[in-house]
Amino acid sequence: MSNSYPFPKDWQHPLEPPADYKRLRQEAPVCPVRLFNGNTAWLISRYQDVLAVLSDTRMVLDSTLPGFPHISASSAARQERTLPFFFRPDAEYRVQRAMLVQEFLPRRMEALRPRIQRTVDEALDAMLAGPHPVDLMAAFALPVAIRVICDLLGVPHDGAERLHVLSRTIGSRASSREEATAALAGLDDVFLALVEANLREPTDTLIGRVVSEQVATGKLSAPDAAAMFHALFYAGHGPPAYMFGLGTLALLLDPEQLARFRAMEDPAAITAAVQELLRFVNVSHLGRQRVATVDVTIGGQLIRAGEGILAQPDSANRDETVFEDPDRLDLQREVHRHFAFGHGIHLCTGRALSLIEFEVVFKTLFHRIPTLRLAVPPEEIRFKKDENLLGVHELPVTW
Ligand code: HEM
Repeated sequence: MSNSYPFPKDWQHPLEPPADYKRLRQEAPVCPVRLFNGNTAWLISRYQDVLAVLSDTRMVLDSTLPGFPHISASSAARQERTLPFFFRPDAEYRVQRAMLVQEFLPRRMEALRPRIQRTVDEALDAMLAGPHPVDLMAAFALPVAIRVICDLLGVPHDGAERLHVLSRTIGSRASSREEATAALAGLDDVFLALVEANLREPTDTLIGRVVSEQVATGKLSAPDAAAMFHALFYAGHGPPAYMFGLGTLALLLDPEQLARFRAMEDPAAITAAVQELLRFVNVSHLGRQRVATVDVTIGGQLIRAGEGILAQPDSANRDETVFEDPDRLDLQREVHRHFAFGHGIHLCTGRALSLIEFEVVFKTLFHRIPTLRLAVPPEEIRFKKDENLLGVHELPVTW
């Protein structure tokens, strides 16, 4: 087994994590891996060890530290720009994160449900009015995810497609440093212009409120605010869109589970089913990046202060000591904590919003199109093999 990271996936079984993880969990649960730039980091593959790393604030996401485990040229290129809050040293991180807490309260997200339902219904109306087979990603998943985040942030819909294209350049491990830098600059410019526009004339949107309360009062600089909104757009549309695609694919490939899902009426059961889909699919499948700030022992292995760590969510989410029959999608599985949204202090800001999106999307899609099916054999579906997120280029469907 080469220890070059990321480990190769078996693209014949794209929803399965790399087979090496199973062996690592048993034989080398804390194992050194080689990164794209020749640096090394510790790969953590067992559930309990991933939990220990992500729960422990002595292991930080601060990408200004030299041992930070960059996984692509694009990730390294970001270092030269204004960093979003979650990659900052702890004290700055906490101050900026607190500025967003009010904006992502679960009850505030719940209030968006009717609007999200409308967005989903309109996208399906348009898709159903057009020809089929159709690419579900282009006709439905991407437009819905982009519209939801644009409406929340206050980003004009015109031009959002370009922001998505720039985001994909940033998210690709195949992008050169120069390509990534240009894409990062393109996004920063758009969000800086939005900050300035909201300084002149505040809007009642997330960007408008944060600009009025934090930037206009001198608590947050305009470039820091632009980096924050850029990151919210980036993290807030790609993962949900890809999950709409892969969650649909996972259900279409498993008719028994799909039948169960269709029969579900109880909102709690639907939420639990969505959580199981997240555990199983792992859209955000690369290791959670951390740096040890002191010597720590994880799974019996000493990790020195300054060393990089990759806590592997897709491996932990399939850990056989925690999940019975972990490689089976079981929508009625007893709910158990998974790492699809991370864990601990950096737990995903958008998780409540995302869960609502998934509940609405999957329920509405399979309810309104009961005969939805793949339009090509599963082996012809093209996966994005170089992206940091797991996703498909297209998902051809028909009904
Ligand atoms: C399928 C949907 C999503 C998945 C799988 C996902 C996954 C994750 C994960 C794994 C982390 C933790 C990173 C770490 O610990 O190193 C994270 C953090 C984050 N996510 Fe998400 N995310 C999703 C949707 C969203 C949405 C919709 C937003 C914004 C509206 C968002 C914004 C963020 C932010 C800002 C952080 C950093 C939080 C912090 O460090 O305090 N995410 N996400």
